[in-house]
Amino acid sequence: MKALKSLTALVVFLSSFQARSSPTQKCELAHASRADGQSVILSPSSSLPDQVSNPIVNNFVSLSIAIHWFQDYTRQGAGASQPNTFTRNLLDSLTESSGGLAPQIRVGGTSADRTTYVLREDQEETIKTISGANGIPINVTINPLWFERCFDGATFPPSTKFVFDLPLVRNDSGAVNNSVRGAEWALEAIGSERFQAFEIGNEEDLYTDQAVVPSSWTVADYVERWRTFSQQIYNRAIQNSEVGGTEGKKWFQGLVFSGLGNNKPAWTTMTAFNAGINRDGSLQSVSLHNYPAGNAPWVTLGRTFMNHAAIVANVSQVNRHIAFLQSSPDTQDIDVVLGETNSDFVNLGMEQFEGVLGSALWGIDYILYAASSNVKRVNMHQGTTFGYSAWQPVQINDIQPKVRPPWYALKFAAEAIGSHEGPVQISPLTPTSDEKISAYALYDSARLARIAIVNFNEWNSTTPYPRPNTTFSVRGLSLSRATGRRLTASGGASADTDVTFGGLRWNFSTNGLPESVDGVAGEEELDLNENGELDLAVGASEAMLVRLEL
Ligand SMILES: *[C@@H]1O[C@H](CO)[C@@H](O)[C@H](O)[C@H]1NC(C)=O
Ligand SMILES: *[C@@H]1O[C@H](CO)[C@@H](O)[C@H](O)[C@H]1NC(C)=O
Ligand SMILES: *[C@@H]1O[C@H](CO)[C@@H](O)[C@H](O)[C@H]1NC(C)=O
Ligand SMILES: *[C@@H]1O[C@H](CO)[C@@H](O)[C@H](O)[C@H]1NC(C)=O
Ligand SMILES: *[C@@H]1O[C@H](CO)[C@@H](O)[C@H](O)[C@H]1NC(C)=O
Ligand SMILES: *[C@@H]1O[C@H](CO)[C@@H](O)[C@H](O)[C@H]1NC(C)=O
Ligand SMILES: *[C@@H]1O[C@H](CO)[C@@H](O)[C@H](O)[C@H]1NC(C)=O
Repeated sequence: MKALKSLTALVVFLSSFQARSSPTQKCELAHASRADGQSVILSPSSSLPDQVSNPIVNNFVSLSIAIHWFQDYTRQGAGASQPNTFTRNLLDSLTESSGGLAPQIRVGGTSADRTTYVLREDQEETIKTISGANGIPINVTINPLWFERCFDGATFPPSTKFVFDLPLVRNDSGAVNNSVRGAEWALEAIGSERFQAFEIGNEEDLYTDQAVVPSSWTVADYVERWRTFSQQIYNRAIQNSEVGGTEGKKWFQGLVFSGLGNNKPAWTTMTAFNAGINRDGSLQSVSLHNYPAGNAPWVTLGRTFMNHAAIVANVSQVNRHIAFLQSSPDTQDIDVVLGETNSDFVNLGMEQFEGVLGSALWGIDYILYAASSNVKRVNMHQGTTFGYSAWQPVQINDIQPKVRPPWYALKFAAEAIGSHEGPVQISPLTPTSDEKISAYALYDSARLARIAIVNFNEWNSTTPYPRPNTTFSVRGLSLSRATGRRLTASGGASADTDVTFGGLRWNFSTNGLPESVDGVAGEEELDLNENGELDLAVGASEAMLVRLEL
C-alpha cells in the first residue's frame, strides 16, 4: 500500500452509463422526496445566481476540541512528550484542501468552563481530570507545561489560529484571577500570530439547568458577569501582551450559547446584545452551538441525520441571529460562527448514528448548508472518545488510533469549498423540503466551478436489494469537461470502515496520510453528451464532488 502525499494522483475511470432523458424529469424538483432509480435535474447557473452566499472563508471547515482531550489530539508518546504527527498529517490534509489556510481550532467546552490553572509546583501532571457524565469531567486542572506542549508549533500547520475558552461558571473570590491566569498562559503559549480570540464561559444558557447559578439567573446577569470577566482579562492579560493595542478590544468571541434560542427564547443573540454584551465593543464574533439530536427514541440514522429537510430546519435557526447583527451598522462586522457543533449532543454509545458513512453524509450537507446560510465558520467538535469525532488521536485501551467516518465529511466539505484565492460562494440547487437529495453549486470568482451532491437514500449491506442510484442530470450548460470524486463505502450508510473519497482512504496505518485503495475509482472522468450535458449516477448513501469545466 502506498501513501500519497497529495491528491495529485488521478485515476481516470470511464463511467459507462448513458445520457438519458425522460418526460417525467421536469417535475422532479417539485417533489418533497423521491425514491431511488429516478433522475433529478440540476440547473446551476454558470454565473452567480441571486440566492448565492457571501464569500466563504477557505477554512470554513474548522474544529473545536474539548479542552480535556486537547493533549491527546496534540501529543503522543510516553508522557505525551512528542507532537502528535497523526493529527498533524490530518490537519495538513485539510489545510491543503483549503488553499493553505489551516482549520481554526477552538479549545473549549463545558470542561474548559470547569478548568483551574495551577502552578507546576502545585501539580506535576500537565492535566488532571475528575470524570463526570457523558465523557465530560466535573473538574479539570492544567499547569503551564500543558500549554507549552499542547500549543507546540510542530503539531499545527503554520497558519493555524486558535480560539481559547476561559471559565466563567465559577463565582468565588478567586474566579476572575483564575481566568486571567489562564488568559496569560494561553497568550504566552499561543503567541500573537496564532491567537484569534478568547471565549469566556460555555453554554451559559444551561447554567440554571445545571444548578450552577440560582434559578433566577437571567441573560442580564450573564452579561454583567461576562463584562466583569472580559474587562479584567483585557486589562490584565491582553493589554500587556503582544496582541494588546493592535486591534482595539475586539479579542472576544461572545455568547457561546448551547442553542439557537429555540428551547431558550430568553437566550439569543438579540437578548444578549439588548442586555449590553457588546457595550465595550469587544466582540469580533458570536458563537452559537448546535447539535440537532440527542438519544431520544425517535433518533435514527436515516430519518434524523440522513435528512436534508431536517438539516435545513436546524441550520436555518441561525438566520435571525445573522439578520439581527446585520441590521445595525454597530454590529454588522460581527461574524456568527457555529463555534461548537456536531451531530448529536450525546457523544458516547451512539456510534451507529455518529460514526458511520451516513453521519459523514449528514456532515457534508450540514456544513455546506451552513456555508450557504452565511454562517462565517463551523467548528466541528472533537473528543478522543466522542462518537462523532473525525479521528481518535491516541490509543485507548487496546484500540489503536484511527480515522473515523466523520473525517470524510470534513475532507469532502473542505474540498468542495476549495482553495480558490478569490471569492468562493455557494448556492443550494435542490428544494429545502427535499429529504433525500441535496446538491450545491460552488462558484470561484463568480464562475461555476464545482457541484457537490449528497444522496441520502439509505442503503446498507443488510438491505435486501442491490444498491440503487439516482441520476443527476446537469442541464442548461455546455460543459467541456467534468470529473468527479465519490464518497462511498461498500457497506453503505451504516459502514464504519472502508470509507473512501475519490478512491483514497485516510487512516492511522499510514499515520494519517492518504493511500489509494485497490479496486476503487479515483477521480472519475465523467461522460458528457454531444451538448455538453452530464448525467451522473450517484448511489444510495453516497456523495459526489464534481469539478466542472465550462
Ligand atoms: C476542582 O479543582 C480545584 C483545584 O484543585 C479545587 O479547588 C476544586 O475544589 C475542585 N472542585 C471539585 C468539584 O472537585
Ligand atoms: C456571585 O458572587 C457575588 C459576590 O460574592 C455575589 O454577590 C453574587 O450573588 C454571586 N452570584 C451568583 C449568581 O451566585
Ligand atoms: C487577584 O489578583 C490580584 C492581582 O494580582 C490580587 O491583588 C488579588 O488579591 C487576587 N485576588 C484573590 C482573591 O486572590
Ligand atoms: C433538528 O433536527 C431534528 C432531527 O432531525 C429534528 O427533529 C428537529 O425538529 C430539528 N430542529 C429544528 C428546530 O428544526
Ligand atoms: C439498513 O438499511 C435499511 C434500509 O434499507 C434500514 O431499514 C436498516 O435499519 C438499516 N440497518 C441499520 C443497521 O442501520
Ligand atoms: C445505476 O443503477 C442502474 C439500475 O440498477 C444500473 O443499471 C446502473 O449500472 C447503475 N449505475 C451506476 C453507475 O452504478
Ligand atoms: C486503520 O488503522 C487501524 C490501526 O492501524 C487498523 O487496525 C485498521 O485495520 C485500519 N483500517 C483500515 C481500513 O485500513
